[in-house]
Amino acid sequence: EKRAKQAMQKAHQLVSQLYHYVLTETPYGVEAMKYLERRGVSRQTIAEFQIGFAPDSWDFVTQFLAKRQFSQELMVEAGLLAKSDGGKVFDRFRGRIMFPIHDTQGNVIGFGGRLLDGSKPKSQPKYLNSPESLLFNKSATLFNLHRARPYIRKRKQALLFEGYVDVISAWQAGFPQGIATLGTALTEQQAKMIRRNVDSVVLCYDGDHAGQEATSKASRILQQAGLIVRVAPLPQGVDPDEYIRQHGVEAFSQQVLLQAMPITAFRLKHLRSQIVIHDETDKARLIAKAVEIINELKSPVERDMYLRQLADEYSLSLSDLKWESKRVYKQQK
Ligand code: CTP
Ligand code: MN
Ligand code: MN
Ligand code: MN
Ligand code: MN
Repeated sequence: EKRAKQAMQKAHQLVSQLYHYVLTETPYGVEAMKYLERRGVSRQTIAEFQIGFAPDSWDFVTQFLAKRQFSQELMVEAGLLAKSDGGKVFDRFRGRIMFPIHDTQGNVIGFGGRLLDGSKPKSQPKYLNSPESLLFNKSATLFNLHRARPYIRKRKQALLFEGYVDVISAWQAGFPQGIATLGTALTEQQAKMIRRNVDSVVLCYDGDHAGQEATSKASRILQQAGLIVRVAPLPQGVDPDEYIRQHGVEAFSQQVLLQAMPITAFRLKHLRSQIVIHDETDKARLIAKAVEIINELKSPVERDMYLRQLADEYSLSLSDLKWESKRVYKQQK
């Protein structure tokens, strides 16, 4: 098993160099280079992240690995190659921009591959990741952690994104402390990995419904791991990469990162945007839900602060609101 793992690792290292070479030094990479340029990814960033391109071929990597005596069976298991039902082996990644994924020691253990816009029929997923293997355990891996770790420690803060393109954009904009999950929900294990390096996390998920849902879920897991969680507000429908491109680095720093708010404030803000208030019934419903969120706080001081804010905002008496809080609490249990 150890030998198999070593061979998988070696293959990943070689193939990531190959993809990078194809992108930067060959005619096969020209279109992908143009695409990255249009997205504002610099040459320096391409070099730093070893971004590559998998040519649109069924056997480019298959041949490359065969020449170097790697077992096909093992390479299929490692997810560099794939196997059809009929037993035919072929390149798993074709016509995709390739982002190497590393373990905490900096070894390549997997890839994320993105299609060029408009390059393939819609049936192909935009992003394709390496499958789970002996080498690649998605729930115990965070994109960019090996590179970001010293900055996370120095700045005493990690920035957690949804996508690796967001991490790369933030890096290029001067925020090197970004990490991301790999197309899956944040796990307890990943939260613990973050906690080993720092005690504070800023969540920068996409400003869409999915991003907000993911923010709620991730924040619970991060808090349970002992992390202080803040949420950076992004405008509706925009993700960090788009925001940086549209508004620039300065705005991202001032209007997004520095505006990061405690998770309770974020959830209350989200709630207000979800419930349209026509009359007193709607308002009462919103207040009951708000109180439910506030009740989840362990600290009575914090609970009190949020209840006072809520009372001010909706012109309620604090004592009525405290009574409501007790009523809702009984129902919550
Ligand atoms: N992702 C994934 N597999 C998918 C879809 C998404 O692994 N089928 C992951 C990728 O890491 C991706 C992230 O989830 O970067 C966020 O997805 P999404 O917001 O849909 O990506 P976009 O921002 O739309 O990607 P792009 O900016 O490249 O168009
Ligand atoms: Mn999204
Ligand atoms: Mn996105
Ligand atoms: Mn999208
Ligand atoms: Mn995006």
